[in-house]
Amino acid sequence: MTVPQERIEIRNIDPGTNPTRFARGWHCIGLAKDFRDGKPHQVKVFGTDLVVFADTAGKLHVLDAFCRHMGGNLARGEIKGDTIACPFHDWRWNGQGRCEAVPYARRTPKLGRTKAWTTMERNGVLFVWHCPQGSEPTPELAIPEIEGYEDGQWSDWTWTTIHVEGSHCREIVDNVVDMAHFFYVHFQMPEYFKNVFDGHIAGQHMRSYGRDDIKTGVQMDLPEAQTISDAFYYGPSFMLDTIYTVAEGTTIESKLINCHYPVTNNSFVLQFGTIVKKVEGMSEEQAAEMATMFTDGLEEQFAQDIEIWKHKSRIENPLLTEEDGPVYQLRRWYSQFYVDLEDVTPDMTQRFEFEVDTSRALESWHKEVEENLAGSAE
Ligand code: FES
Ligand SMILES: [Fe+2]
Repeated sequence: MTVPQERIEIRNIDPGTNPTRFARGWHCIGLAKDFRDGKPHQVKVFGTDLVVFADTAGKLHVLDAFCRHMGGNLARGEIKGDTIACPFHDWRWNGQGRCEAVPYARRTPKLGRTKAWTTMERNGVLFVWHCPQGSEPTPELAIPEIEGYEDGQWSDWTWTTIHVEGSHCREIVDNVVDMAHFFYVHFQMPEYFKNVFDGHIAGQHMRSYGRDDIKTGVQMDLPEAQTISDAFYYGPSFMLDTIYTVAEGTTIESKLINCHYPVTNNSFVLQFGTIVKKVEGMSEEQAAEMATMFTDGLEEQFAQDIEIWKHKSRIENPLLTEEDGPVYQLRRWYSQFYVDLEDVTPDMTQRFEFEVDTSRALESWHKEVEENLAGSAE
């Protein structure tokens, strides 16, 4: 059936506006070991500045960066014992946000604290909890532990940090349901693609192999390498992905962290890293090499995403086909982190499943790849 020309309406993009508040949830701010170099670290996040420092026991603390005395920047100060000393007048603040000493003064103002942020260290990375209403996290919201991580069964994290200006972090989260972009942006052939949202967790289950006409490190440059990926967002900003790469009779298990934190409501820091499970007979160096190869491949892939995010329009009303997956449902899930706790409704958190039928897409993509291969062989 053809639609008469005069009935076809131009669709206008509704760009909407970025939320002014920042999401409630655990946000990963980096590798824990990077904060244990004996220096204070400044982190720009949630439209403000924080200072991260380690006490003598190696425990990490996060405080507001600006000193409550006269506004000095604690991140420019020095760690003295278990406190952070302000560079302006040497006031000492402990990890709980209490002023412990004012060396030049007869009395220390014990009342009135600075803000100490709730932290969690897990699997070698540091998280801060953010809630505009000041709520504390419940135990169910904790990021799960990676089995065997504490026992040294995995390689070290490779880690990459990228600052993305001019984009809201929702754009990354949209990718959770976006089956088709894996072919165009990440050179993957998704054979199977399913999403499951439940409570504060959004899952993406994908089985794919690499495009034969374009190879990336993720498939280890091996023909026929298959990728089995089960990725979960735990809250608004932290994704942990378990990936099995099956090639030539062996299976490599790796974990990918894909996380971000907002800097302003129009910029964010994207971080990602991988670890590889050591297989018997694999040396530390080989495991590290493997992790680096994965990360290089992923870095290429993320670079492609970033190019898209930087230049795209924000869009509230995407025009979709069935193969595009449940974008609206995903955004409803995501919205739970931007409303007050009492305004979280069941439709944001109830279980929702959607499997994309990839058959039509694969048919067209196989044809395209074959044509490209034939073209390059000429
Ligand atoms: S401003 Fe920090 S000690 Fe004075
Ligand atoms: Fe992507």
